[in-house]
Amino acid sequence: MYDIIEQLEEKRAAARLGGGTKRIDAQHAKGKLTARERLELLLDPGTFEEWDMFVEHRCAEFGMADNKIPGDGVVTGYGMINGRLAFVFSQDFTVFGGALSEAHAEKICKVMDQAMKVGAPVIGLNDSGGARIQEGVASLGGYAEVFQRNALASGVIPQISLIMGPCAGGAVYSPAMTDFIFMVKDSSYMFVTGPEVVKTVTHEEVTSEELGGAGTHSTRSGVADLAFENDVEAILMLRRFFNYLPLNNRDKPSVRPGSDQRDRVDMSLDTLMPDNPNKPYDMKELILKVVDDGDFFELQPTFAANIVIGFARMEGATVGVVANNPMVLAGCLDIKSSIKAARFVRFCDAFNIPVITFVDVPGFLPGTAQEYGGIIKHGAKLLYAYAECTVPKVTVITRKAYGGAYDVMSSKHLRGDVNFAWPSAEIAVMGAKGAVEIIFRDYKGDPAKLAAREAEYKARFANPFVAGARGYIDDVIQPHETRKRICRSLAMLKDKKLENPWRKHGNIPL
Ligand code: COA
Repeated sequence: MYDIIEQLEEKRAAARLGGGTKRIDAQHAKGKLTARERLELLLDPGTFEEWDMFVEHRCAEFGMADNKIPGDGVVTGYGMINGRLAFVFSQDFTVFGGALSEAHAEKICKVMDQAMKVGAPVIGLNDSGGARIQEGVASLGGYAEVFQRNALASGVIPQISLIMGPCAGGAVYSPAMTDFIFMVKDSSYMFVTGPEVVKTVTHEEVTSEELGGAGTHSTRSGVADLAFENDVEAILMLRRFFNYLPLNNRDKPSVRPGSDQRDRVDMSLDTLMPDNPNKPYDMKELILKVVDDGDFFELQPTFAANIVIGFARMEGATVGVVANNPMVLAGCLDIKSSIKAARFVRFCDAFNIPVITFVDVPGFLPGTAQEYGGIIKHGAKLLYAYAECTVPKVTVITRKAYGGAYDVMSSKHLRGDVNFAWPSAEIAVMGAKGAVEIIFRDYKGDPAKLAAREAEYKARFANPFVAGARGYIDDVIQPHETRKRICRSLAMLKDKKLENPWRKHGNIPL
C-alpha cells in the first residue's frame, strides 16, 4: 500500500512538472504562463478538480515508447469561476509542444462530454504545436473527435477558446467552432498554413504575427473577438466575461444584482444627437449611459467597427447589445458588420439572452467590392438571424433607419417585441436628397425646385410618426428616459414564449 501511495505521489509530481523545469523556464522566458499556472488564475482558488492526470500516449513510433509524460500535454477537469461551474482544458506546451495525440484528444473529449451532460461551459486554453507528428492519423482522428463535439455542443453550452500560443493547421478548427475566441498579443497565432507554406505557394513573405497574430485576427479577419496584452490580462478578462454567460441553453440569463436604478434618467442623452443629421455622434456613449453602471463588455471593437456588439446588464440581467455606429462608415451595414452582428444575435438567441438594438443606419454600403463580395448573402445573415430570433427584442431607433437596413435591424416586422424611436428618428426608404433626385428626375437642372421638394420630403418622412401611425413604432420616447423604457420592456418580456415551426434546422445563407 505504501508503495502505491508513493507511486501515486511520484506520478502526480511528474505530471505537475510537465516537460521539466528547462521547458517551463523557456515558457516563462517567452512571457507565457504554464498550463497549470493559467488554470490557477482562471479558476476560483482550490476549486480545480483535475481528471486524467495519469493518461499517457500509446505511440511506439520514433522512440516514443520510452518517452511518456503523465497527462500527455493537456491538463483537464472542472472548477468554479466566480462560484459557477466550468469545464476546462489547458494545453501544456512544455510536453511535446502541447501537440495533440490520440490520448490528449480523448482527455479533451471527456470533459466536453461531461460538460454537455451537466450543462456547463467548456473553456479551452490553446497552446499547441498541432497534430502529434509521431502519431499520424491517430492524432488527426483525435482532432475530428473534438470537432464533432464542438459542433454538437454549439448552441447547447457556451464554448470559449483562449489562444495563448501556436494554433496552426487543423488545430484552428476547434476554436473556430467555439462561440468566442480570445487571443494573447505577441505570443499567440492562428493560421491554416504557416508562413513557409504561404511563401512556397503564393510567394508572399509574411511573418507569423502578420499572418495570424492577435492583431490580425482582431482587426482584419474577425476570427478573434478580443486581443489581450498578456496571459494574466486575458485570463482575468475571461473570468469577467464568463459572468455574462448562462451555463447552458436551458439556463436563464445570468443575474448579478447591482445598485443601478431602473428609473435612472440621463438628461445628457437629450443633447447627444447633433443638429446636422449627417454629423456622427458616439453610439457607445448612449450604450454606456443606458446599461447598468456604465459597464459594457464590447466584443470585436476593432473589427467592422461600423457595428457595435457586446454584453451588458439591465437590472442585473445579461443582455446582448447591437448598435450601428455612425462614427464608422456612417453606420452603414456591410459584409463584415453583417456577419459580426449576425453571429452575435444567434449566440444570444441560442442562450436566452435578450437583444437590445440601437439603430442609426443609412443603409447598406454601396460599391462593387460589396456586391462582388456577396453582400446580398452576407447581409441576409443578419436579417435571418433577427428573423429567427425568439428571445426578447427591444429596439431603439435614434436617427436613421433607411431602406432594407430598417427592416434588418430588429424591426417590428421581424417580431421586434418593443420598438421605440427617439424624436430625432428618420424612418424612410432613403435620405431626402437621394429620394428627391429619383422621384423628381425632371427637375435635375433646377436646384431651387429640387430643394423645395427635398424640404417637402424631409417634412413628410424625416420623423418617427409615419412609422408610428402604422404601429411599427410602439412609442416615441424622450432620449433621457431610454433606460427606464428598456428596463420596463425587458421586465414585461421576462417570461416571453415564442417558438419557431418544427424543422431539422434552418438554412441560413452562409
Ligand atoms: N508533434 C510533436 N512534437 C511537437 C510538435 C508536433 N506537432 N510541435 C512541437 N513539438 C515539440 C518539438 O519537437 C519540441 O520538442 P522538444 O522540447 O523535445 O525539443 C517541443 O515540442 C517544442 O517545439 P519547438 O519547435 O522547440 O518550439 P518553438 O516555439 O520553437 O516552435 C512551433 C513551435 C509550433 C512553431 C513548432 O514546434 C512547429 O512548427 N511544430 C510543428 C507544427 C506542425 O506542423 N504541426 C502539425 C500540423 S497540425
